[in-house]
Amino acid sequence: GSAEGVVVAIDGPSGSGKSSAAKGVASARGLRYLDTGAMYRAMTWWMQHHRVDADDAAAVAEAAGRPDITMGTDPAAPTVRVDGRDVARDIRTQDVTAQVSAVSAVPAVRERLVAMQREVIAQARRQAGGIVVEGRDITTVVAPDAPVKIYLTASSEARAHRRSGELSGSDVDAIQADLARRDLMDSSREDSPLTQTADALELETTGLGLDEVVAILLELTDRAAADT
Ligand code: DC
Repeated sequence: GSAEGVVVAIDGPSGSGKSSAAKGVASARGLRYLDTGAMYRAMTWWMQHHRVDADDAAAVAEAAGRPDITMGTDPAAPTVRVDGRDVARDIRTQDVTAQVSAVSAVPAVRERLVAMQREVIAQARRQAGGIVVEGRDITTVVAPDAPVKIYLTASSEARAHRRSGELSGSDVDAIQADLARRDLMDSSREDSPLTQTADALELETTGLGLDEVVAILLELTDRAAADT
């Protein structure tokens, strides 16, 4: 390995199992962990908290520079703070989930968050042996030169079942419909849509356990670290 740490970039739709897999890899190899979806959620929470209409792209763009978002990158205890407040729970509500695709489609929002993400990555490479980053545009926009690039997928049923385990009291059909709506928005927006590129390795996780997914990712990570 070199003095510069490794970057493991993971993209995929909601419920593909990205977060658990990314945290598992980071914990096993002593790397940092960054959930970029949590940053878009934090931005959305701030807009709602300050009564900025999330569907008004001009208003969102104008306010995009205001929230102070800080991410803790320990995979065992990742944190999200907005203006000093711990928003880990607030960003997982239905209100935020319903509007995060609209907010994350605004170019000014993406510009600011992508710059922050690149800073976190650069710091982790210098100081912590590297980082595992998950989202929708990590392999394509945020870290296209990452030595490990993965696109995680799963059937829509498997993804809805995973999400229903995370959200209490919601039924699988409703979740599947909501995932389909968000997939469409996240993949069809103009700026940095979720896209699968030829140089990212596709890993279909339907029917695989978390341990199996993590084992595959660790093998790829170790191989890339040995090559650099
Ligand atoms: O992974 P998640 O469901 O927490 O992500 C929430 C939303 O944020 C998702 O609907 C799309 C958006 N997102 C994005 O546009 N770019 C990223 N790199 C990560 C998430």
